[in-house]
Amino acid sequence: MPDPGPGEVLIDVQACGVCHTDLHYREGAINDDFPFLLGHEAAGLVEEVGEGVTNVAPGDFVILNWRAVCGDCRSCRRGRPWYCFATHNATRKMTLDGQALSPALGIGAFAEKTLVAAGQATRVDPAARPEAAGLVGCGVMAGLGAAMNTGAVGRGDSVAVFGCGGVGNAAIEGSRLAGAHTIIAVDIDARKLEMATEFGATHTIDSSQVDPVKAIRALTDGNGVDVAIEAIGLPVTYEQAFYSRDLAGTVVLVGVPNPAMKIELPMIEVFGRGGSLKSSWYGDCLPSRDFPMLIDLYLQGRLDLDRFVSETIALEDVEEAFAKMERGEVLRSVVVL
Ligand code: APR
Ligand code: ZN
Ligand code: ZN
Repeated sequence: MPDPGPGEVLIDVQACGVCHTDLHYREGAINDDFPFLLGHEAAGLVEEVGEGVTNVAPGDFVILNWRAVCGDCRSCRRGRPWYCFATHNATRKMTLDGQALSPALGIGAFAEKTLVAAGQATRVDPAARPEAAGLVGCGVMAGLGAAMNTGAVGRGDSVAVFGCGGVGNAAIEGSRLAGAHTIIAVDIDARKLEMATEFGATHTIDSSQVDPVKAIRALTDGNGVDVAIEAIGLPVTYEQAFYSRDLAGTVVLVGVPNPAMKIELPMIEVFGRGGSLKSSWYGDCLPSRDFPMLIDLYLQGRLDLDRFVSETIALEDVEEAFAKMERGEVLRSVVVL
């Protein structure tokens, strides 16, 4: 571990979730900067801060994020820091046997310590369990934010969520928190639909059995939903989301497609239905605004983060956790250090 440089922070990692993106890194699907230090959904304690760091101090309990806003790019300057186009990471390199490591998403928290840019650490109430709090740093934030920030779900809205993994269930939870009165969960796995009900879905649709577009229309007086959230990253489910929204409704894509995927939509439907087709980057979150608020809701019992923690594991169990993730057995396995 290098000492933290100016604007950098050394973190004593307490817990880190296992996310699909870690697996994508390992498979070379993100880039070729091997060797990687995986892990990026983490919470821990600030151990040491570098020169000029003012937002956190040693001993603070923090959640790490992978979009430390710069405050200075064209988006930040226009008052839209959640879209920041020039986010920061630590520049000093962590090494293993003298070889520099590439930290996944600029974090690298499958380790006892990690080095991040100060803006990647957000102080939250230390009463929160690290295993649950860390998940706010990636997948859970992506889903909550897809509903609450990007989709701007509000009181009385109807919502459909396609894909009920960690991200989709967080979108369901976010829709419930925002006051949606109808929340329709769509998945092809009965186990996931059961979980969706526990998170607050008012209706479930097994799209391996029925046409989800017809079923959603039947549940909404033939109209479709106000907000349709795609949390898988597939053309087929994106099209289902597109056709299951009401006039002037919103489609939110939070699932990450691969570069080869294409969608084909009648342009007249894109125009004629009005509304908007949006993508949600990291739930369009602003960590300094959203993380402390979400942890407060969690501590008040209004946001169930514990339900996302399917199991806690040791560092050496990450490979097995990847396998469980691929078999669809868990929402999140969380490494506890
Ligand atoms: N129709 C409906 N549901 C599907 C389909 C389909 N064709 N294919 C897969 N699913 C369901 C799976 O059964 C699973 O419950 O989608 C869910 C996906 O969940 P996970 O694999 O656990 O993924 P998650 O971690 O929630 O991430 C979802 O969001 O941020 C992105 O990169 C992430 O693209 C990924 C997506
Ligand atoms: Zn910026
Ligand atoms: Zn992630």
